[in-house]
Amino acid sequence: MTDRQEAARAILRGNDRGGYTVPTARLYPFQWNWDSAFVAMGWATFDAERAWAEIGTLLRGQWEDGRIPHIVFHAPADTYFPGPAVWGTAHTPRSSGIVQPPVLASAARRVFTADPDRARAEARMAAIFPHLAANHRWWAAARDPDGTGLVAILHPWESGMDNSPAWDGAMARVPDATTTPIVRRDTGHVAAAMRPREQDYRRFIHLVEVYRTCGWEAERMYRTAPFRMADIGTMAILLRAERDLLALADRFGAAERDGIGVRIARLADAVERMWDGGRGVYLSRDLIGAAPAPAATSAGFLPLWAGCYEHAAEMAATLARWSARAGFAVPSTDPADPGFEALRYWRGPIWAVVNWMSGEGFAAAGQGKAADPVRADTRALIEGAGFAEYFDPVTGAGAGGASFSWTAAIYLLLTRDS
Ligand code: GLC
Repeated sequence: MTDRQEAARAILRGNDRGGYTVPTARLYPFQWNWDSAFVAMGWATFDAERAWAEIGTLLRGQWEDGRIPHIVFHAPADTYFPGPAVWGTAHTPRSSGIVQPPVLASAARRVFTADPDRARAEARMAAIFPHLAANHRWWAAARDPDGTGLVAILHPWESGMDNSPAWDGAMARVPDATTTPIVRRDTGHVAAAMRPREQDYRRFIHLVEVYRTCGWEAERMYRTAPFRMADIGTMAILLRAERDLLALADRFGAAERDGIGVRIARLADAVERMWDGGRGVYLSRDLIGAAPAPAATSAGFLPLWAGCYEHAAEMAATLARWSARAGFAVPSTDPADPGFEALRYWRGPIWAVVNWMSGEGFAAAGQGKAADPVRADTRALIEGAGFAEYFDPVTGAGAGGASFSWTAAIYLLLTRDS
């Protein structure tokens, strides 16, 4: 084991709050949904028991209706806004009421495969499979109630890519008036130039207020939503998660097989309709404005992670173009796009988790000439700049929070054979 792998493990241990891993101290002091999925895979490279605990603790936040919230507030902390009082949900433990990309079933399958103790793996998976299945049924019912295959997110935070320029057109319609006083904590931890703007925040909170008024009831939220996007990233991650769930269903839930199969067919078909030949990448779709998203982003490569290989060669060419222009792979926004900003969060910076899924996807599609540089750049960025939250795609500098759990987890996954 190298010193850097040891350092990555030390970050996970240091961010462990007893069964869940915070993304980083202070800036993100609770359990985040998709962070925990990646982190569980990271733990599984050296401590499978702890990996299962991460998943189990996240599932304690699951609601009766099947949703898994984007934040679970297991213990109080005053370094983050908006906290539990702003969300005003009824669940115990306290949580937000929106969701995040459903990486969890894919992570659980990987932990299952990695666990050297087969009896434990069988027992843990048997216990969590029904929760994963309930969560996927929730996605279909709550976010694709008309069965079109276009699964919606109702808040930019649900995409995990908070201020992506892909949401600019749809967010411009969202009022920026709020009744909740906005007390940002994030800009006390990192430079404001790296974070979403004030107006973005007012709109983020406006949406929270709209859904709180809906009592967090899924059907009302969907019908009332002033922001409704078919996010290609979320759809691809869900499609992959459904395939992983199907692979587990023979052993752990045969009764779910048909339902999963129907959802996979519908989703795969909808993803294909989002291909944009001109840009050489998949694009999200604004379901209210009935138009493709204005910007091409790194989420557009994620259908490869989901097993959609039809356009893999074109996507490899697109990636090569973006990387040549920016410097490193994979910038979160097409660097030729007017919305590109090298340092501002999801408007340009590189995120290790997206790189890892893209690398896996390109490799599985037989596009080694795209997978290899993505993986090599991800490693080089981390080795050069540390376990930063994200990286400047032009200079390679680390940015945002430091000692970041999911960056450490991805490093462990990328280097697990060396
Ligand atoms: C930010 C990111 C989101 C992540 C969270 C915790 O909100 O945009 O993807 O889950 O931080 O790391």
